[in-house]
Amino acid sequence: MDFILYEVNGAVGTITINREKALNALNSQVLEELDATLDAVDLDAVRCLILTGAGAKCFVAGADIGEMSTLTKAEGEAFGKKGNDVFRKLETFPIPVIAAVNGFALGGGCELAMSCDIRICAENAVFGQPEVGLGITPGFGGTQRLARLVGAGMAKQMIYTARNIKADEAFRIGLVNAVYPAEELMAQAQKMAGGIAKNAPIAVRNCKKAINEGLDVDMDKAIVIEEKLFGDCFETEDQKYGMAFFLDKNKEKVKEPFKNC
Ligand code: CAA
Repeated sequence: MDFILYEVNGAVGTITINREKALNALNSQVLEELDATLDAVDLDAVRCLILTGAGAKCFVAGADIGEMSTLTKAEGEAFGKKGNDVFRKLETFPIPVIAAVNGFALGGGCELAMSCDIRICAENAVFGQPEVGLGITPGFGGTQRLARLVGAGMAKQMIYTARNIKADEAFRIGLVNAVYPAEELMAQAQKMAGGIAKNAPIAVRNCKKAINEGLDVDMDKAIVIEEKLFGDCFETEDQKYGMAFFLDKNKEKVKEPFKNC
């Protein structure tokens, strides 16, 4: 891999977009390597992912403008599909993904963060969808996910004006869950990921699936999705152990790690 770093620390995997010279901009190769990295994650061992950008300045400065500059209509559409396919893989990835946004998250960078389950950022983070200033629309899910995350009115304002917003405003409108001093960001991401990873993995995965799939349908269908995924947890080793541990009145007992089965 030229542009993606992947390391595993306990049950937490960290993916770093590593194309610092171009502020981690997403060209076709970066997208292909991100796709391959996701395919290679060992889901028996890893229970949560963190996604970040290399360097102190940038998460991802968007799709690669040089690569896009000469595309035809058909090629533009295909490039949008390439990004959308990878981002959708991330959004529907079986385990949770935390975006640790360490600087500029513009265009495809903001869209990449929005494909993750949870976003936290550094105080120097800047978010925006500058595409209309380049003569295009957001093309890796921005028109869809931003409206779902911050509401149609705010999304339209950000997209039509192409105005960037700083971390405090991103927090205020609900685009990020928390803002940290830059030097604390990765430790906070690890702490959150570690907290997720110690919970029953099948249950966490089913929660992700229930929330994602439920949001796409009406409430009557959504609660049926929940019922199935709730039922799916029963008879697992982790459900039996988790409940037996609670019911055991021996308070000296130490909780063992869940087994993912
Ligand atoms: N694509 C390609 N190269 C990029 C890039 C991008 N999106 N963003 C930055 N770079 C490159 C620059 O061309 C520059 O390369 P050289 O050193 O070879 O000249 C290098 O990264 C450093 O960038 P700057 O000199 O511009 O750094 P800066 O500190 O002055 O500015 C910035 C930082 C504000 C993030 C600025 O780089 C910028 O505005 N980048 C473009 C952001 C943008 O418009 N993103 C949206 C892209 S469109 C998109 O993403 C479509 C979609 O939805 C799929």
